Amino acid sequence: MRKTIVAGNWKMNGSRSLVNEFSTLMSGVDEATVSVVVCPPACYLAEFSSPGFALGAQTLSELDNGAHTGDISAQMLLELGCDYVIVGHSERREDHGESNELVAVKAAKAIASGLIPIICVGETLETREAGQLKSFLAAQLDALTAVLTAEELQKAVLAYEPIWAIGTGVTATPEQAQEVHAFIREHLAEFSQSLAQSLQILYGGSVKASNAKELFAQPDIDGGLIGGASLKVEEFIQVCQAAG
Ligand code: G3P
Repeated sequence: MRKTIVAGNWKMNGSRSLVNEFSTLMSGVDEATVSVVVCPPACYLAEFSSPGFALGAQTLSELDNGAHTGDISAQMLLELGCDYVIVGHSERREDHGESNELVAVKAAKAIASGLIPIICVGETLETREAGQLKSFLAAQLDALTAVLTAEELQKAVLAYEPIWAIGTGVTATPEQAQEVHAFIREHLAEFSQSLAQSLQILYGGSVKASNAKELFAQPDIDGGLIGGASLKVEEFIQVCQAAG
């Protein structure tokens, strides 16, 4: 039985006051049924004192500590109390030119360091409408299995985030999301049956309190990676409760 994860990705948003608001976050969320992760900008990680939920970063350097200006290493994220790290978010693939191969290297660094990578995959509307959805996702997944063993990938979490649903309010229907999650499992089963069955696959893309329950009820959806709705404490709590 895969446990549900609800992870909030603040992106380049937030404030110290929002950090303080989240200090009461876990009230009313049953940790037995859902693992809650909050991924603020790195500058706020140290502001969370003994939170009732897991902390995550939004990226990491694939390099170790050293002369790498502006980067943050896995070692530093662990020291800041992170258990998770988002890897390969479509916005980083776009803004920072993160290739499938670099995403795989970052995921490997996270796993080797003891962090749990939330590895993002997902297509543009153009790719979907061109009928290239499955080949596009397969290439993203194959870049991971080319460098990581099934045992290593068991330590990761995947997030399917259709780019056309991110920040647009246009959520994939539960059927659309379930269809892709099932395809991801089928494709991974060619690499490892046990991995395909055990891997937690989150859905991300305009998840709200109003649609979370139906999405999370799908057999191959194991929770959500939440953007905008994670910046509103009450709504984020409702999304977490929808997992119950
Ligand atoms: O990483 C989660 C994010 O991409 C989804 O954003 O605002 O559509 O929930 P949003």
